[in-house]
Amino acid sequence: MIQPLILSGGSGTRLWPMSRPEKPKQLLSLTQAETMLQLTVRRVDPQMGFAPPILVANAQHADMITAQLAHVGVDDATLILEPVARNTAAAIALGALAAPSKDSLLLVMPSDHVIADLPAFHQAVERARALAIAGWLVTFGIEAETAETGYGYIRMAHVLSPGVRAVEHFVEKPDLARATAMLAEGGYCWNAGIFLFRADMYLDQLREHAPAILAAAGEAMRQAQRQAGRILPDSAAFAHAPSQSVDYAIMEQAKAVACAPVRCGWSDVGSWDMLHQISASDTAGNSIQGNVLAIDTQNCLIRGGEINVALLGISDLIVVVHANDLLIMPRGQSQNVRQIIDRLAGNG
Ligand code: GDD
Ligand code: MG
Repeated sequence: MIQPLILSGGSGTRLWPMSRPEKPKQLLSLTQAETMLQLTVRRVDPQMGFAPPILVANAQHADMITAQLAHVGVDDATLILEPVARNTAAAIALGALAAPSKDSLLLVMPSDHVIADLPAFHQAVERARALAIAGWLVTFGIEAETAETGYGYIRMAHVLSPGVRAVEHFVEKPDLARATAMLAEGGYCWNAGIFLFRADMYLDQLREHAPAILAAAGEAMRQAQRQAGRILPDSAAFAHAPSQSVDYAIMEQAKAVACAPVRCGWSDVGSWDMLHQISASDTAGNSIQGNVLAIDTQNCLIRGGEINVALLGISDLIVVVHANDLLIMPRGQSQNVRQIIDRLAGNG
């Protein structure tokens, strides 16, 4: 049985002002009535043959997460509550250490992505299963379309089994020049950030390539407090884990890495522009939610929040109202929203 391991500790800063540290992207309803986290857990429902999920999340969000899971009928999840965020390599280590058995097959999933074609995704997981059982670290690859710098890139080599290839190399978050060169060269996929591997294989790779992360996560779990369905790793021990993503710490380093390319309507909804692209739009190309009156308005994304918003004679704008904050920017700028966060925090 596949053991889902859902990562829910990111901050989703580019979706400010809706995404906030106290309620980040994965806990918001962005594409449908359900939140991104609820949509994620429903993709690995026990009725589809998955084990009850393990979630690794920020301790601050524990009650919100429990309530969101209960709302979609999930009451048997294990919540590992991080006292501090130490990035994904350490978060996955906690999950691997809490797995029901050493060779549990972990399906590591971000909690903030869209997968429109669920059967296609499940078929890709099935294609990857035998190799993951045999010890490979399998990633899922999305056909690269543009020179995105926010993704990992996977150069694929020979076929290992139907629909799964060996990975020649893995390049996490290249700069624009390198991303452009890889796109021109061809043969690269984007890393979807979804992985299938055995818990013991992941821990072995950590021991080899990032032993300090394994040591800190191991000690934090040995000293963890356990309550019904909740594991609280020891704060002081976990704080020693170097903050590295699984992509830099393991995927770029490990040898037995495979990739299962998949077309499943995947998006990481990384920015307001991306949300506009994947949302249903009206005939004028507007994606509108909230109390919004839009006249002679085209190709805009508008999230009205609690106040009434009226727009007249505008096009190609992103307008987001949330509590006391209002964001207005032209389409195409949304990768730069982090600059706003930095300024507001006094760092920009
Ligand atoms: N528990 C926990 N703790 N979860 C975390 C932490 C942490 O410290 N940091 C991030 N996460 C969660 C996020 O909530 C998200 O669900 C997932 O882990 C991935 O983290 P991101 O911060 O969103 O990574 P990224 O988008 O920059 O890059 C990854 O995803 C890309 C695809 O969206 C990489 O895997 C890239 O290679 C990949 O292309
Ligand atoms: Mg992401």
